[in-house]
Amino acid sequence: MRTSLFLAFLLIGAPAAAWAAEPGPDPQLIAKCQECHGPGGSRSTPATPRLNGQDAGYLFRRLNGFLDPGSGTPHATEHMWQTASSLGDRAASALARYFAAQPATPADPKMPLAARGEKIYRQGIVGDVPACQSCHGPAGEARAGAPRLAGQRGDYLEEQLSAFMLQMRVSSDMNRHAWHMDPDQFRALRAYLSNDR
Ligand code: HEC
Ligand code: HEC
Repeated sequence: MRTSLFLAFLLIGAPAAAWAAEPGPDPQLIAKCQECHGPGGSRSTPATPRLNGQDAGYLFRRLNGFLDPGSGTPHATEHMWQTASSLGDRAASALARYFAAQPATPADPKMPLAARGEKIYRQGIVGDVPACQSCHGPAGEARAGAPRLAGQRGDYLEEQLSAFMLQMRVSSDMNRHAWHMDPDQFRALRAYLSNDR
């Protein structure tokens, strides 16, 4: 009886122990990221995205994506290629979990333009673009592999939409959606989703 209880403890306890032993990121690496992305990844500066509260799986995939300059913009390669190349999978995964766990910044909608952005976000564009919320979540909070958009820096959001439209950033989902939109619609979505404070 005692042996079987002990075995059961080992079987149930082992995965939990492995999870608890998962190492956190190196504080020096966090400090390096924070030089540009700010405390907890929350600083908003022109064309530098926030990382706080972003989906961990997305952050990890994006860090790997920077290693292939052909799949991103020159701006992304210029600022992130060197940093991303110096990380192994372990460090990238630990950093992704760290920034995902930081409290997210809420959106700060700018009326009246934001109302137009909200309509596109919730309903899409009939015949051309599905509702953004179907992938990014009802409040832009990230869902099923699509990143968090709410509270992101405005000019960064707008630049990514243009980059998807011009096929400079490769994404099978986003390239075809952005292709059907124009800069006025990008600005309206920015007004609805972003937070530049
Ligand atoms: C020299 C400044 C700088 C440093 C240091 C830096 N970043 Fe970045 N990071 C940027 C800029 C600028 C962008 C926007 C690139 C673009 O235009 O796509 C970016 C983009 C990102 C993105 C994409 C976010 C998104 O929403 O798609 C991730 C993830 C990221 N950085 C993670 C990190 C991590 C983790 C570190 C530390 C290991 C780090 N960065 C260090 C400047 C920096
Ligand atoms: C079919 C699912 C889907 C729909 C619908 C969709 N997206 Fe996306 N979106 C994605 C995925 C997946 C990514 C991540 C691409 C990558 O890994 O580089 C993404 C990335 C983005 C990014 C880049 C975010 C960042 O941090 O770099 C923006 C901005 C964006 N989407 C805006 C929108 C808007 C606005 C709409 C509605 C007009 C929309 N998306 C509709 C799936 C979708």
